[in-house]
Amino acid sequence: HNSNHNVAVFGAGYIGLVAGACFAELGHRVTIRDIQPARIQALQSGAVPIYEPGLGEMLTRNSKRLRFTLDADEAVRDAEIVYVCVDTPPTASGDADLSRIWAVINALKGASHLAVVTVKSTVPVGTGARIRAAMDTAGLEHVPYASNPEFTAEGRAVEDFMHPDRIVIGTEDDTAAELLADLHDGVKGPTLLMDVASAEMVKLTANALLATKISFTNEIATLCEATGADIAHVTKATGMDHRLGPHFMNAGLGYGGSCFPKDSRALRALASNSGYAFQLLTAVIEVNDLQPRRAVQRLKNELNGLKGRTIALLGMTFKPGTDDMREAPSTVIASRLQAEGAHVRCWDPMAPACNDGPWASAHRCATLPQTMTAADGAIIATEWPQLRQANWSRLATMMNTPVLFDGRNLLTPHVMKQHGYIYLSVGRPTTPATPATTPHDRHPQRA
Ligand code: UDX
Repeated sequence: HNSNHNVAVFGAGYIGLVAGACFAELGHRVTIRDIQPARIQALQSGAVPIYEPGLGEMLTRNSKRLRFTLDADEAVRDAEIVYVCVDTPPTASGDADLSRIWAVINALKGASHLAVVTVKSTVPVGTGARIRAAMDTAGLEHVPYASNPEFTAEGRAVEDFMHPDRIVIGTEDDTAAELLADLHDGVKGPTLLMDVASAEMVKLTANALLATKISFTNEIATLCEATGADIAHVTKATGMDHRLGPHFMNAGLGYGGSCFPKDSRALRALASNSGYAFQLLTAVIEVNDLQPRRAVQRLKNELNGLKGRTIALLGMTFKPGTDDMREAPSTVIASRLQAEGAHVRCWDPMAPACNDGPWASAHRCATLPQTMTAADGAIIATEWPQLRQANWSRLATMMNTPVLFDGRNLLTPHVMKQHGYIYLSVGRPTTPATPATTPHDRHPQRA
């Protein structure tokens, strides 16, 4: 039918802004509400407070269907559908902090005209039932509840939203299910309807399994280092098994970001709270904690100690294409380097000015040559394209000792050796017998 709806989105972060912009793009009228005045002011004046490809253009293109407000009542007044997209940061116990969700439900008090309240924020399984109870208390007993988890990755959120692998809608109410399916009319992807608890579980399961694939690959990489095998060959050939797939098999410094670390800990906490030890997931988390520490240890061994050494840390964000520093392995690396007595210089094309934790005493450089001059060692922590294209032979001559730890397996070992580096990477021999290639015909090739 493709009718247009009035949507109120609570939370103007990565999830809420992208969802709001995309709903407007689909033709709906959207009011986005946030509690941060600076953020709402910026949005009202046409600025985009986060970096996400295509988002700025989409907000501008649909500006007549988009409003931004600090006022919850204004957002809810004409709304038919409410989307809760506030953040749920982890608490000390590893449980998710749901206080921002409760604040939104509180702000909806008495809004019995609503057709559905939908939560997109990632929440522990069972939260839907608690929200249902809170809604009943807030005079919303006739308003249906739905869970619509988000699977978009940062740096490609708009694209992922408009072309998802699947749309998951969890609700006990058929009318609400139909309404939410209609809201997504125009999004290219299959819609799966299920109960609320299952929808909540899908999100945590997908992220935990992806995290598992990364940690598993990192353990195999460690075994490659011990045996002389090359992780590039191993993952390429393994990933060609269609049952496994090639994705999320890059060995490196482990996963960071706003989702994987938080969601894997949340799922483990969920298990623990129900009296069950999720041992596999505990191992996944432990392996991930180890990766950046192992990198520093290997650099320390190569340099015979880190005390007084100057180390260039190349890349700070948790992955390229974003300005997000949340749970970035670089922070652990900077902290460990300083604990060992090293001086840290850092470079990143997009990270914001950081002054907390180890970054307070790290020296931020504007260019790669500045970062590398007279350094005793360097670590690549984020696979920025700028690093792939850098003039490595020139940079080698600027360093005190050209020791380079490539934590993202971005560069080619034998090429880096030719440039004069003592080159370390994750799970690859320093001088491989043969570079990993894909055969172009039936004859196996080495080239
Ligand atoms: C992720 C999920 O992909 C997304 O579906 C979910 O909704 C939110 O979490 P995001 O955190 O934006 O998205 O980043 P992603 O690109 O998935 O990478 C996560 C981390 O894993 C990064 O630190 C990345 O460097 C690391 N990673 C990824 C690896 O170390 N190896 C890989 O093979 C893939």
